[in-house]
Amino acid sequence: MSDFCPVPEVGKHGEFLQKVVDMMFKNIVFTTRQDKVLLWQTPQELENQFDFALKQNGESHEKLMILLKDTIKFSVKTGHPYFINQLFSGLDPYGLAGQWLTDSLNASVYTYEVAPVFSLMERHVMSELGRMVGPGWGDGLFCPGGSFANGVSANLARYRRYPEVKRKGTHHLPKLVILTSEECHYSVHKFAAFIGLGEENVCKIRTDSIGRIIPSDLKHNIEKQMDEGSVPIMVVATLGTTVRGAFDPINEIADICKSHGLWLHIDAAWGGGLIFSQKHRAKLNGIERADSIVINPHKLLAVPQQCSILLVKDPRILYECHSKGAEYLFQKDKHYDREYDLGDKYLQCGRKCDVFKFWFMWRAKGSSGFANHIDTLMDLADYFEEQVNNRPEFMLVSERQYMNVCFWYLPRYLRGRTNILEYALQLQKVAPQIRAIMVRHGSVMLGYQPLKELPNFFRFVSQNSALTKLDIDFILDHISGIGDAIFQ
Ligand SMILES: Cc1ncc(COP(=O)(O)O)c(C=O)c1O
Repeated sequence: MSDFCPVPEVGKHGEFLQKVVDMMFKNIVFTTRQDKVLLWQTPQELENQFDFALKQNGESHEKLMILLKDTIKFSVKTGHPYFINQLFSGLDPYGLAGQWLTDSLNASVYTYEVAPVFSLMERHVMSELGRMVGPGWGDGLFCPGGSFANGVSANLARYRRYPEVKRKGTHHLPKLVILTSEECHYSVHKFAAFIGLGEENVCKIRTDSIGRIIPSDLKHNIEKQMDEGSVPIMVVATLGTTVRGAFDPINEIADICKSHGLWLHIDAAWGGGLIFSQKHRAKLNGIERADSIVINPHKLLAVPQQCSILLVKDPRILYECHSKGAEYLFQKDKHYDREYDLGDKYLQCGRKCDVFKFWFMWRAKGSSGFANHIDTLMDLADYFEEQVNNRPEFMLVSERQYMNVCFWYLPRYLRGRTNILEYALQLQKVAPQIRAIMVRHGSVMLGYQPLKELPNFFRFVSQNSALTKLDIDFILDHISGIGDAIFQ
């Protein structure tokens, strides 16, 4: 028997699927710069234009094709070069092929027998990424996002200090505290609430003028919390903060954690991909001193969503903290080595296969391909920053450390002023108005936000290495053109 059967009679379902794939190719995979990033509709307009109703009887293939076309028509094309709204973008062909394949196989990676290839593949990916982090690393979890991974790490940190929590719960515990940057990702707070620590017990550490944790403030707050009778259990440091792309000083933070016996979690969801770049790897120096690290290949490395990895230093802790040994799935008398069943170290039961698209992209490009991707993006960010600095209508918000270029568009009356923050109230309204016009036109999606005392500013950040310097010129000209028209 050959490995693959001859193409079977596709039948009407096969024909339908073929049409769907053709349509996706034409309308999603190969969108061009001439296409819009999105066709903006207000919720009310979309309700009126899209047939959302669920019905008693099924639909014909013709009608289903219309529904699919409309779904594509009104959805945001996140693979478009001008989608620079989030910390993910681009559409990698190998990643997409990987995603399609796992969706077709519909695997669930809990036992070796149900997912033999993917179970071994996960071990290989964890072990290779671990090797890149440092000696002794090599175990971890694929997580449904960096937020979830941050939450799991908080639970591990608590388990390390109070292992009996797993059986007895939390009612006997003192007040536990997590310390993290005031510019950390909001998931730290969400999951502190979720695991019963409480948002108020996340102590925010001040950051410096470019967004990095101030170590002396961290030390001071740990001691203060202890004096007040609380028990600090964990520090969350960030390598690549969400808004400014700041890198916390890991070695200094690790020294502080060591002297106080605290779990150090590094949220490198955004910055961690730099591990592939020889040129920029130094930004992650000290990462190997953590107890746990999150890296999101779906951000910097442009792996399709979701692909997020939590690495842990202690190879036993995931099993100890999470396992339950359900015997309908993890039977003790299996005919193969149960070590290859990965499921019991996870909190989920059924689980999507996120490893394959990453592994497949890695094989397609090699580590050097990821490195080139990163280096190209860093060069583009350099160019973007240079243009912002060279043009009087733009101003950098703070010194850039990473791909995040944070900048204001300045209406004419603010250009050349040094005391820009005195105009915070006016500046607050500028980015949202320009953005609204771009989104209504469907031309560019570019994010903005305020931060601490800083009024709304744009954040340019792209993971799409197909972006060019000409695109950057276009984006800046476009903002400038809109700004000049509305702020006369
Ligand atoms: C630093 C950082 N950590 C965690 C996350 C959350 O990752 P996810 O969106 O995969 O949940 C983000 C998202 O932008 C982030 O920037």
